[in-house]
Amino acid sequence: MDIYDKLTLLYSAKEISLRIAEMGKELSKNFDNKEPIFIGVLNGSFIFLADLIRTVSIDCNIEFIQLKSYEGMVSSGKVEVIKMISSNLNNRHVVIVEDIIETGNTLKFLYDKITQSFPKSITTVTLLKKNMKNQLNFDIDLIGFEIPQDFVVGYGLDYNQKYRNLDGIYHLSNNNNA
Ligand code: IMP
Ligand code: MG
Repeated sequence: MDIYDKLTLLYSAKEISLRIAEMGKELSKNFDNKEPIFIGVLNGSFIFLADLIRTVSIDCNIEFIQLKSYEGMVSSGKVEVIKMISSNLNNRHVVIVEDIIETGNTLKFLYDKITQSFPKSITTVTLLKKNMKNQLNFDIDLIGFEIPQDFVVGYGLDYNQKYRNLDGIYHLSNNNNA
């Protein structure tokens, strides 16, 4: 079966790259002379972070943290750290880079964890945000696209570890006939 049979395009590679260029410009302006540390949340944000960072024109550092919160198409609500970062965040400008915010559980967990290291600032960036009520008691600073509540894949985002390799973002139908 063709993998695209169940997929409907939401954002093409071209649309994504244009939006990311704008985001990189804004971050470069906001963090000039601050040498921020970008923390990508694995696995979902690996492509987004890689593209975003190449649109950033200032000195910066990169780190990754690996978290787990999802099983199939539903958020388990429980977040676990699979791989921790190694840099010292104390007194640093931290930029969290997420692929997608749904319930906000993952981001809230990470935000609280990073706060314990006493950074100078925490900025939150996500490529996608689902248009629904979330758990966050702070604003997301930079959002690529606001999307409906449907499940999406591609551009790093998976369904049971599949579809991360697609260069666009697609809505995945859970209807077998679709
Ligand atoms: P949250 O904790 O509910 O905000 O969910 C955040 C995490 O769940 C994201 O970092 C993704 O890894 C995953 N996730 C949420 N919605 C989707 C989706 O539509 N497609 C793929 N992964 C998703
Ligand atoms: Mg994620």
